Amino acid sequence: MAEIRLENVVKRFGTVTAVDHGTLTIEDQEFVVLVGPSGCGKSTILRLIAGLEEMTEGYIYIGDQIVNYVEPKDRDIAMVFQNYALYPHMNVYMNMAFGLKLRRFSAEEMDRRVHEAAAILGIDELLDRKPRQLSGGQSQRVAMGRAIVRKPKAFLFDEPLSNLDAKLRVSMRGEIRNLHDRLKTTTVYVTHDQVEAMTLADRVVVINQGVIQQVGAPLEVYDHPINTFVAGFIGSPAMNFIDCRVVQDGPNILLDGESFQFPLSATKDGMQIFSHLLGKEVILGLRPEDIEDREFVKDQKEGIIKATVNMVEPMGANVHLRVASGMHHIIACVSPKTRAKAGENIDLVCDLSKVHLFDKETEKVISKSPITG
Ligand SMILES: Nc1ncnc2c1ncn2[C@@H]1O[C@H](COP(=O)(O)OP(=O)(O)OP(=O)(O)O)[C@@H](O)[C@H]1O
Ligand SMILES: [Mg+2]
Repeated sequence: MAEIRLENVVKRFGTVTAVDHGTLTIEDQEFVVLVGPSGCGKSTILRLIAGLEEMTEGYIYIGDQIVNYVEPKDRDIAMVFQNYALYPHMNVYMNMAFGLKLRRFSAEEMDRRVHEAAAILGIDELLDRKPRQLSGGQSQRVAMGRAIVRKPKAFLFDEPLSNLDAKLRVSMRGEIRNLHDRLKTTTVYVTHDQVEAMTLADRVVVINQGVIQQVGAPLEVYDHPINTFVAGFIGSPAMNFIDCRVVQDGPNILLDGESFQFPLSATKDGMQIFSHLLGKEVILGLRPEDIEDREFVKDQKEGIIKATVNMVEPMGANVHLRVASGMHHIIACVSPKTRAKAGENIDLVCDLSKVHLFDKETEKVISKSPITG
């Protein structure tokens, strides 16, 4: 049983509130990723779980036990950092065995565990090497090996891949996920890279300024962000935010962006749902990948945005168009077959089933998929 539970956890450093009433349950065997911009409190949460920082308020449970006053070494948790800090004078074997030695494991058990972990990580050949003779990826594996041999109740990873080059990062990411699928050890993983978060996590925890914004499965958070922060942080390129007003037009309610109008809903139910928004300013959230060059969606009549192309960025799999529509600057990921050219006009179409509406004042989501085309 290695569920980790945070209950109203507060951590202040002087006047800085690094963690602001954080409540979160990480289930046994779960892989949870904490994601958010620099300084939002991710590392602090990990360090609190590990016992490396003292909480200002609240409780942390590991299993059924409150660990507020349990020493880090007695929490039975292994942490892997960004700078994995291998002992330079010890070979790989001893780097992995050292923690067990301190805990007075028998030589036999130590040997068994080191070889088992080395086999899992594919580093059997490296056991005699010193850290300076290892590549970045190999060093990272050794650092993970050091955590694995302890068979802890949980792994805590703090940006373990950020020192690696882009390609290695992707392959190590796969290895970490495979490792979890095999060992099933409860894992809390910190990154500010939302792609890493999306691909690794059972659930992601999006944090901003010490406050947990949203917890959910990656696609749940992507499809149903609860506020503009989460909406803008998850997804790349970032979601477009466009100021609009909700207006009445005969029997219809329209989302008026000045340079375009979308029907909020032509249905009777839609009228009831959205009539309270009449006259209100809202923020329309449109993901770039939900906008296409009209050339390729000819039969769609609603959700058209007329724009001028500012920049065409071919990405291979698609093309990023930076366009201006009235006062709005919008980025769209369109078909690679687009013939759009900078300086020319273009008609874009939005997938109206995928738009997001946010309250302009609170920045909280109003309703998902409100538009029936
Ligand atoms: N020991 C400390 N003393 C004072 N302030 C601290 C200390 N540790 C962290 N902070 C502050 O707490 C806030 C959260 O820091 P934290 O290291 O948890 O952020 P993070 O999300 O891990 O950021 P990054 O992505 O840059 O690693 C920051 O404002 C930071 O400056
Ligand atoms: Mg950090």
